[in-house]
Amino acid sequence: MMRWRWIWVTASLALAACHQPEQQAAPVVSHPPAAATSAPKAASHFEPPPDSSIPQDDFGKQIALGRQIFTDTGRYAKAYVGNTLNCENCHLDAGRLAHSAPMWGAYPMYPAYRAKNRHVNTFAERLQGCFQYSMNGKAPPLGDDVLVALEAYAYWMSKNEPIGVAPPGHGYPKLPRPTQAPDYARGEAVFKRDCALCHGDNGQGQRVADRTVFPPLWGAQSFNWGAGMERLDNASGFIKANMPLGRGNTLTDQDAWDVAYFMNAHERPQDPRFKGSVTETRKAYHDTPDSLYGVTVNGKVLGE
Ligand code: HEC
Ligand code: HEC
Repeated sequence: MMRWRWIWVTASLALAACHQPEQQAAPVVSHPPAAATSAPKAASHFEPPPDSSIPQDDFGKQIALGRQIFTDTGRYAKAYVGNTLNCENCHLDAGRLAHSAPMWGAYPMYPAYRAKNRHVNTFAERLQGCFQYSMNGKAPPLGDDVLVALEAYAYWMSKNEPIGVAPPGHGYPKLPRPTQAPDYARGEAVFKRDCALCHGDNGQGQRVADRTVFPPLWGAQSFNWGAGMERLDNASGFIKANMPLGRGNTLTDQDAWDVAYFMNAHERPQDPRFKGSVTETRKAYHDTPDSLYGVTVNGKVLGE
């Protein structure tokens, strides 16, 4: 399926014209090819039900709406979105792909304690965070249709899974710490070689007919400094397993860390929890070697 997606994406590069952007529902989930050092073992994982099994009733309508919100967030949840990303840009195959934080890997694990806000979060509250940070927007109020539909979609996708047991393929892989400290220049070389073709020389991505074909990696239209992808451990794990699109698990771990560093050493929208100064905000929310917020790179303090 990823292969089809990749062909679709490549084709849209060439066509750059009107096309039916939403791919057809494909029932089978394929693994990213397992290879190289820390690639996830080819463990079998949960197979979510095919989209064709979404029921044709009022409940099914909410599930289908949840899927639409997931894949075309700026259109179906406009009021809560502040950039050009879609949920699916980081949770591939409409939230179905293993090792890409699939929704079937998340739903059975909530409520959960989160260090990020230091309390137990319901699934709905977890979704609110995605809008505030990854989508650089506003949290839909609890009970809002947007959250209900997304929750219905994740619930439906998780049918027959045990509750409270982390399924193989959940979340993003955690890479071992890199042998050499992540490096801007090496990351830039990886970016030029393996990423710029799709994401653009300035990480700006590409839009065709009002739809994001290649999502922006930094800048005003990307995720903000409060998002999970801002962390080098999350970003390197996501990139290793899933990028370059269609060629997951082909980068070395070091390349994945270096290019994650390069990506996150660029500016992006401010952390919405900003406390008036970058130093204070770093102390409160970014006090980890995995965040470059407030760090000086190439003579510039990131986040200022
Ligand atoms: C820029 C990339 C990005 C976008 C866009 C994004 N997410 Fe995420 N999402 C992440 C990352 C990274 C994590 C995990 C890291 C963390 O815990 O913060 C995550 C975690 C999650 C989780 C919890 C996963 C788990 O296994 O516990 C859910 C649920 C989720 N996202 C839903 C969404 C929804 C719904 C949207 C769209 C409204 C969305 N995300 C948009 C990057 C993204
Ligand atoms: C063949 C085109 C292609 C290449 C090459 C590619 N990407 Fe992507 N990338 C995509 C697409 C398309 C998505 C969104 C996936 C989706 O919606 O299914 C994406 C999503 C992402 C995301 C999450 C969304 C965001 O904007 O933050 C990151 C991070 C990312 N890519 C980084 C990289 C890095 C780093 C490289 C190089 C190692 C790379 N990509 C190479 C096409 C590509």
